[in-house]
Amino acid sequence: MIAIGSDHGGFALKKALMAHFDRRGVSYKDFGTYSEESCDYPVYAKKVAEAVASGECERGILICGTGIGMSITANKVHGIRAALCGDCFSAKATRQHNDANILCMGARVVGEGLAIMIADVFLSTPFSNSERHLRRISQIED
Ligand code: RB5
Repeated sequence: MIAIGSDHGGFALKKALMAHFDRRGVSYKDFGTYSEESCDYPVYAKKVAEAVASGECERGILICGTGIGMSITANKVHGIRAALCGDCFSAKATRQHNDANILCMGARVVGEGLAIMIADVFLSTPFSNSERHLRRISQIED
């Protein structure tokens, strides 16, 4: 189960991603926002980050205008490694190297087609499980 959330700036892109997941049979839980009315991104970043940190959802996707506010907020939650990605290389590398558990994207930065590719890469790439990456990740939490 994927936790997904956005603010008003990311609402349209979130809807496009959810339509893609519906077509692909990927299950997700939408934590809001539910309209384009102006709202505060930390509310939704915290909801998604807590769902991932608690184990309710395996991974999360957060979208705002830039993706920056979402990533700053999500990374405050213990156990969250949120990665702001605007390209497929970063999405793949952050899964392999950082075991990132939340993908953040900026709806004013990436187009719909690229965002869908980034999300697919993020969700399909496993963590490398290599000793050096495990060691480095453990140092993040120290
Ligand atoms: C909203 O205007 C915008 O500030 C928000 O979507 C996001 O980009 C914040 O980081």
